[in-house]
Amino acid sequence: MSTLQHILRALRKSGDTGIHGTAISETLGISRTAVWSHIEELRSLGFGIDAEPHSGYRMTSIPDVLLGDDIRSQLPPDILLGRDIRIFRETASTNQLVDQMGLNGENEGLAVFAESQTHGRGRLGRKWISPQNKGLWFSVLLRPPLRPPEMTQLTVIAATALTRAIRQVTDLKPDIKWPNDILINGRKVAGVLTEMSAEPDRVLHAVLGIGVDVNLEETDFPPELHSIATSLRLESGAPVMRSTLAVRLLEALDQDYKRILKGEFEAVAEEWESQCITLGKHVRIHQMDRTFEGYAESLDSEGALMIRNPTGHLERVTGGDVTFKKD
Ligand code: BTN
Repeated sequence: MSTLQHILRALRKSGDTGIHGTAISETLGISRTAVWSHIEELRSLGFGIDAEPHSGYRMTSIPDVLLGDDIRSQLPPDILLGRDIRIFRETASTNQLVDQMGLNGENEGLAVFAESQTHGRGRLGRKWISPQNKGLWFSVLLRPPLRPPEMTQLTVIAATALTRAIRQVTDLKPDIKWPNDILINGRKVAGVLTEMSAEPDRVLHAVLGIGVDVNLEETDFPPELHSIATSLRLESGAPVMRSTLAVRLLEALDQDYKRILKGEFEAVAEEWESQCITLGKHVRIHQMDRTFEGYAESLDSEGALMIRNPTGHLERVTGGDVTFKKD
């Protein structure tokens, strides 16, 4: 853990009581002047830190910026997903960047966040709007021991992790729409784009890309998205601290990823199914080359949607967009 991570952890832990510079310097084995210069660095990044002769340093405010050391300092030391966090002010697409890093041999668990993306990618070739400092736009590098058809499992864990983290940080009640949309009150608030580099029977690396509309306001969305997209801020009526949500999300992703590594995908799938508004409905599936209808019956062991078509035949669907038909 870096010195800055230790100091941030100590400041958070001491809360309103505060912590003496001497205590920090003794624990870390650095001079009080070095502690002071790290405190100055944190202040320059926007952290409010009081210094008083009796109580020492006290954190009074936290800025809404993404800082790798800050996020890492709030995560458990043995975390896999998020063990290495890199933050960019702007990038074309974090999925594209992490894919390149995967090809360059970076280790599993690297998480790359961008404060904004110029060419954010959505599913089915769509664009994903990613305005500066308003959302969480990030990608995690995975090297899962899965075969390409099992990759849907990653999308499933991303969806369950997203709903858990959103519930922990807000009072909102998110729903999952197959395969990867997180909705609140019927409007999309987050999406997942899983991409992979694979051989026919082996995944070399996977990129789990997650976009969460955290603090976007109505004017941040283009008019055509107004009726279908929303943000946590718009739904809850208050801004949400992005770094806190990032911490909860990485923790939740890590838990669920470890569950599938232990062969416990079924348990994650059950959690997913309990929040999925697609199952038990008559739906229309829109794929690149065709649209068809049926009854969404269940999720199979690889995360595909099982659709009972009007002739009674059960069809396995691994991709596409779902809209709901009236019963
Ligand atoms: C969807 O269409 O619902 C998926 C959207 C995924 C967007 C995220 S934002 C971070 C990562 N980088 C990208 O270019 N896309 C994903």
